[in-house]
Amino acid sequence: MTEPTTRRNFLKTGCLTVAAVGVTLAGGGTLAATVHAPIDMPETTFGEKKMDDRILVAYATKAGATAEVAAHIGQALSAKNLPVDVMPIKKVTDLSAYSTVILGSAIRIGNVLPEVTKFVQANQAALQQKPFSVFITCMTLVPDTEENRKTVSAYLDPLRAVVKPAHEGLFAGVVDPKKLALLERWMMNAMKTPVGDFRDWDQINAFAESVAV
Ligand SMILES: Cc1cc2nc3c(=O)[nH]c(=O)nc-3n(C[C@H](O)[C@H](O)[C@H](O)COP(=O)(O)O)c2cc1C
Repeated sequence: MTEPTTRRNFLKTGCLTVAAVGVTLAGGGTLAATVHAPIDMPETTFGEKKMDDRILVAYATKAGATAEVAAHIGQALSAKNLPVDVMPIKKVTDLSAYSTVILGSAIRIGNVLPEVTKFVQANQAALQQKPFSVFITCMTLVPDTEENRKTVSAYLDPLRAVVKPAHEGLFAGVVDPKKLALLERWMMNAMKTPVGDFRDWDQINAFAESVAV
């Protein structure tokens, strides 16, 4: 029987995968096992660049699903005539032009991506002074049950401890084996994680609507 996708499963299988990487590399294996297919990193500006009450939608992704969600949220906000910048979090250097900040992250082994944690820590003071929201994409929300929501909500505890977000979007994500490194595919196979695109665009639109208010 298929084991449910739980945080503990991700952590356990993640550790085993890390051990497998060690063995592979120590055994003279190739780094190809950790190589990713190239992914799109959208960077878009909606509205007049010089306005200083812009909305920032910054994202961290490994396989592209979270970047697409960020781009979609940017588009939804711009449809309300709001000035928006969508960009990878690693490219954000200054928050002063932004009245609102929305950060998106993929989840890997029970955590938001490290660049998101570092960003929130480094910009704690600025983020405390403006509306700040977070969204994540992950596979524990397949299926989207109350229990799985609790598990996924806990992924945000380390960020909440630094700055409490005004809005949180917890979204099911995507597993597309073509976009994963070999070791990640092993891990997903070992965990029997469902393959496919499980993003619920109505939920994502509702989140965009809530942060726009
Ligand atoms: C190596 C790996 C580890 C993952 N770990 C978790 C996890 O701990 N919990 C979870 O809910 N989803 C986990 N996922 C699922 C991803 O968070 C999900 O596929 C997400 O949509 C990927 O976003 P991205 O395409 O922007 O990288 C993992 C996926 C991979 C490939």
